[in-house]
Amino acid sequence: MKEEIQLLLEEVKKKTASIISKDMIEDFRLEYLVKKGKITNLFTKMRDVPKELKKEIGKDLNELRKFAEESILELNDKFELQEDTNPGIDLSLNGRKKRSGSSHPISITISKMIEIFTEMGFEVAEGTEIEDSYHNFDSLNFPPDHPARDMQDTFFIKDDRDLVLRTHTSPVQIRVMENSKPPIRTIMPGRVYRNEAIDSTHLAEFHQVEGLYIDKDVNLAELKATMITFAKKLYGDNLEFRFRPSFFPFTEPSAELDIRKPGSDSWMEVAGCGMVHPKVLEAGGINSEEYIGYAFGFGIERITMLKTGIDDIRLLYENDVRVIGQF
Ligand code: PHE
Repeated sequence: MKEEIQLLLEEVKKKTASIISKDMIEDFRLEYLVKKGKITNLFTKMRDVPKELKKEIGKDLNELRKFAEESILELNDKFELQEDTNPGIDLSLNGRKKRSGSSHPISITISKMIEIFTEMGFEVAEGTEIEDSYHNFDSLNFPPDHPARDMQDTFFIKDDRDLVLRTHTSPVQIRVMENSKPPIRTIMPGRVYRNEAIDSTHLAEFHQVEGLYIDKDVNLAELKATMITFAKKLYGDNLEFRFRPSFFPFTEPSAELDIRKPGSDSWMEVAGCGMVHPKVLEAGGINSEEYIGYAFGFGIERITMLKTGIDDIRLLYENDVRVIGQF
């Protein structure tokens, strides 16, 4: 009997320590203290205890009951106090895993690019997504019959054939030139639109970061060095670069930059670039006899794909948290 009381006391101590709600107090009371409760049952068994032990065992048993009853009072007080200070919050519920949002991979890349280029001395400018065709095309030396001016390639604003959803961030170059005096060293991030057939590397809506540097002595080597330095700061040293000769109406000479990660067999085209065409400087109100410049335009989705290993551009916009939550 003595042992039984001891064991029950241990059990009661454990139980009361694990109580975290008022409902659990009531369950405890029902298990131990009501008429058929475990403690009450022991009192019934006192009948069979030999006379000479009754006093001692009775004392133990009373102590056990007292402990259980006092525990109930204490726990009641505790939970009432919590209810008073936290009305409406059920502290007995299990905790929920903390949910915190994160930036979209494209936003992360843009912030990172701004960080790196501002460190290198560039300012940041933004244009508008609806652009007039003068800034999107004419001022950038696009001839009147250039295919980009075709409805197949560009979204025109319905009732105004002069307004387009900008097809690149290059018109911001002109706007920056119009509004400032050289030396100019600016990057221009933003969203652009093209009437593209959508596939794993093309979307109709995507992002670019334009770069423009205009001063009295700027050269192609500096352009290459700037782009490579940027890429190394973003991806680390271990990369291969390839500048391919190319054509853009607003740069001369022009090139495209491809990047390859070691071990990969495919190159990723990440940017167009070149020396700013004199006609473009003039369109921006800058004397092309006195000044020279370079420009580049990075595709942010491509940069992000190379960085994250996402191999289908469409995954960036399906908003599946299993994909975009990883970065
Ligand atoms: N605007 C070009 C494009 O969208 C990229 C570019 C920018 C090329 C600046 C040269 C200089 O493809």
